[in-house]
Order: sequence, then C-alpha cells, then structure tokens
Amino acid sequence: MPRIMQETSKRHLYKGKTIGFVPTMGALHSGHLSLVKRAKSENDIVVVSIFVNPLQFGPGEDFEKYPRDVEKDMEKLRDVDADILFVPENKNLCPEGFATHFIIEGISDRLCGAFRPGHFSGVATVVCKLFNIVRPVRAYFGQKDFQQTVVIGRMVEDLNMDIEVVTCPTVRESDGLAMSSRNVYLRGEERTAATVLYKAISLSREMIEAGVSGPEEVKARLNEALRSERLVSEIQYAGVYDPKTLLDLNEFKRYNLVAGAIRIGGTRLIDNVLVEAVKARQ
Ligand code: PAF
Repeated sequence: MPRIMQETSKRHLYKGKTIGFVPTMGALHSGHLSLVKRAKSENDIVVVSIFVNPLQFGPGEDFEKYPRDVEKDMEKLRDVDADILFVPENKNLCPEGFATHFIIEGISDRLCGAFRPGHFSGVATVVCKLFNIVRPVRAYFGQKDFQQTVVIGRMVEDLNMDIEVVTCPTVRESDGLAMSSRNVYLRGEERTAATVLYKAISLSREMIEAGVSGPEEVKARLNEALRSERLVSEIQYAGVYDPKTLLDLNEFKRYNLVAGAIRIGGTRLIDNVLVEAVKARQ
C-alpha cells in the first residue's frame, strides 16, 4: 500500500538515512540489478518498485502481455540485497477518480514520443507519484531509455524536486543486444537479427570517432545498415540527436546521441550511445 511505503520512508528519513530508489516494471534482468547495485553503493536504504504502469501504454500496446513474475523478481532482489520491494496495486496507485497528468512539452513528443503519444506523460506522472511515496534522495535509471532520463530530469528540475537522477550504463547481452524485459518477445531468428541495432549504432560511433564530416553521413549509413537486416519490419527513427533537446543535429556537438527505434517482427527495440566528437572539430 502506498501509505505504508510512505510511512516506512518517513521513518528512515527521520533516522537520517538516505534512500536510493529504482523504479521498475518488473521482469527484472541484469540491467535492473546493476541499478540496484549502484544504488546500494550510494545510499543507506534501497527501495525497488515493481509496477506495470497502465498510464504509459497506448491502445494496442503490450500492457496485457508485458512479462510479469514477481516471485522470480523477489529472488533476484534478495541476491543483490535490495532493502525494500514496493509493489503497489493499480487500484491503490491510480484509484477511481485519478485525474492528474503531467505534460513535459517538447522533449516528450520527439523520438519515441512521436510514435507513442502520451507515453512520457504516463511515465512522468507515475514516477512523480512514486517519488512522493518513496521520497528518495537519488533515483536510478538505465541509459537504454535515454529519452526517459531526459524527461524525468526535466520534471525534477522544473518542479524543484530534491532528487538526483542517476543514469547508469546500458547492460548488454554478450552479442551487444541491450537488455530489456521485452527481449523475451523475440522468437528464433528474430533474436539474432535484433543485434543489428547495436551493430549499426556502434558503426555510427566509429564513424564519428574517426572524424566523419557530419551527422547526415552518419544517419544515412545507420539507416542503410538497419535496412540491410531483412527481419527489420520498421525503422521508427535512427539518427544523431542533441542529447539535451533530442532534436536532429546538423553538425556535431561535443556529445552526440546516436539512437534508434526499430521493429523486428512485432517487437519494438530501442538503443542508443552517447559519442564524444573528435577533439579537433569541437
Ligand atoms: O523504465 C521503466 O521501467 C518505467 O518506464 C518506469 C520508470 C518504472 C515508470 O513506469
């Protein structure tokens, strides 16, 4: 229950303890566990939440089939010594009459937001609620959901929330595929084909680091590499973006976000890397 969690946090805060928070939707993998480990190293108490947030799924998306296995998640959290697991029910977190929604303008509508209208509003609304319940000093998110970290960072800054948003490196399978709870949807040869995203993004990174002339050339090569995989059924976006505004870049900045979202069959995959442009051109 949110009330019990809130009271528990209050007691810890009263004793002067720092709370680190890892919000998740469950189906935990090593990426989530790396966030918990980082949070453990920086805070007295680590709270993990599991809540498959209906507000961030659009019509026709995978809310119903999103993988859920709280028992297994609990075992994994025990192994990494998480202190508190908070698993609110929808009826308690978003009860009848719930009517408040955040809009984070601009950045929410770009990249993934252009293909998932309302998604980041749903994320921000629920994350704000969770922050108010858990009252962390630091909250941990994976870089794979780069846009999510930008949106949450904006919300925290705009609303003067006293919380440090910590972005942790993407954890990958041995062949480079970014870990995601949705990877279980990939079937047979789709799993191998899925590596095309990281391979193509890595190629872009190499081009930037080697001193290629500009983002356009990188974008063209990135899209070509993605199109070369026959199981890619859609390229939603793939390019070089400003990591703060998420707008397309016409020329390199010091830090450049190479990001893409594709579908392999019915499975949507996202990935990104941040690349520092070669010193000579800055
Ligand atoms: O990244 C996720 O798993 C979700 O978007 C989050 C942050 C838990 C909000 O529902």
